[in-house]
Amino acid sequence: MSLPRLGVNIDHVATVRNARGGVHPDPVDAARLAIENGADGITAHLREDRRHISDDDLARLQILCLEKNIPLNMEMAAVAEMAKIAIDLKPHAVCLVPERREERTTEGGLDAAGHHNQITPIIRDLSDNGSRVSLFIESLPHQIDASLKCGAQVVEFHTGAYAHALDDGDQAKADQLLNQLQEGAKKASDMGLEVHFGHGLTFDNVGAIAAIPEGMELNIGHFIIGESIFSGLPAALKEMRDRMDQARISI
Ligand code: PXP
Repeated sequence: MSLPRLGVNIDHVATVRNARGGVHPDPVDAARLAIENGADGITAHLREDRRHISDDDLARLQILCLEKNIPLNMEMAAVAEMAKIAIDLKPHAVCLVPERREERTTEGGLDAAGHHNQITPIIRDLSDNGSRVSLFIESLPHQIDASLKCGAQVVEFHTGAYAHALDDGDQAKADQLLNQLQEGAKKASDMGLEVHFGHGLTFDNVGAIAAIPEGMELNIGHFIIGESIFSGLPAALKEMRDRMDQARISI
């Protein structure tokens, strides 16, 4: 049995830095520390409004990841400006996400079914350029079918609604959403898509997601960075990794 990879999203180190407009804390230093403490990959979202990660951060992250032989996963909107940056940068992976300026974080998955005309050529250009492309979608059959049709190699299922249902104490809804994630993972994997999960994952909710056997990678950011305030990044990473591994081993 293979254990799921842990991709660490370091966006919110940049959020803290940008609150003062200076250079500290540097998300590249955080990425280095994460790599030295067991991260399997680094994820960073270059948003159109550059509210956290900057173009310069991304370029420095790519240098670090190449030096350490660790995959860099660039999250971005499926728009021409970002596609050009990703073509120049050649990150190991690109994850296409929906983006609305007024949102606080990435709310909901990409509508691969509704926007296939916009998404398909971007996936083709990025794939031809050597990046593995994933689509951040809801675990719904028509979005999985559309992702394959658009040419994606990977789907990352949005776990935010599941996390929210648990936070709200709505166990019935959480169970239904977990079932939907499990079914989607099976379907996507049977169709030859690699399955990832991400958004809103914490020590408390990661177990059920890590236990989904088709899941190859979990991308986790906000909670790990927040928890680092209390325990430090190495300890927060170790705890998350232990919980993921234990959940997978015990299935
Ligand atoms: N995966 C994707 C595609 C995302 O957009 C995000 C949030 O930027 C994450 C994972 C990480 O979510 P969180 O910060 O809630 O752990």
